[in-house]
Amino acid sequence: MLSMGYIPPINIRQVTNQVVGLGTHRALQSKTDLNGIITHASRSLADISGFAADELIGQPHNILRHPDMPDSVYYLMWQHIQAGEEFFGMVKNRCKNGDHYWVMTRVAVMQENGKPIGYSSARFTPHADLIPTWEDLFARMRTAEQSSSFTDHRRFKPAHDVLCKFVQRKGFNNLGQLVLSQRS
Ligand SMILES: Cc1cc2nc3c(=O)[nH]c(=O)nc-3n(C[C@H](O)[C@H](O)[C@H](O)COP(=O)(O)O)c2cc1C
Repeated sequence: MLSMGYIPPINIRQVTNQVVGLGTHRALQSKTDLNGIITHASRSLADISGFAADELIGQPHNILRHPDMPDSVYYLMWQHIQAGEEFFGMVKNRCKNGDHYWVMTRVAVMQENGKPIGYSSARFTPHADLIPTWEDLFARMRTAEQSSSFTDHRRFKPAHDVLCKFVQRKGFNNLGQLVLSQRS
């Protein structure tokens, strides 16, 4: 029997393939410490994800991870925020019951006296008609990740190449510009 607080590893988390719309919830917010442990979750994030705020706080942020998300997106995200830069990305998140929702996410560094003390994120609604394109992109990125024989950070290169080509074909210089252009 599983204890109440048990969070299964990402690869065995059940999904339903049911999408949840954000409805009137506009900005789903959270904050983490420098290790990605959730320190704050907005009511809207709790409502949409199906977790109580208490179940989110103290947990690693990958509690919301959907197995369709490529590792390389999160690698890129951590590279940016650990370098002190903000990151914009499209994210498919898993709800507690296995449903999912799509969000355009901005992650930024929080500082105190010039030193990083944690990260904050806000999530906004993307145009729904763009989602199939992102589903397809992420599937191609995951395939590229699996094709790599490297086990260190070099394994992300083929997937990042797929992402770069996607961004360029859409006429943008970087992922952030593309994502911002798709806010609904
Ligand atoms: C402020 C902040 C917000 C994050 N938001 C999410 C999120 O909504 N969904 C998610 O899967 N990961 C999010 N992450 C990234 C997770 O910390 C983690 O890197 C990612 O889920 C991949 O985890 P894994 O490689 O351990 O499976 C966030 C990280 C930070 C710092």
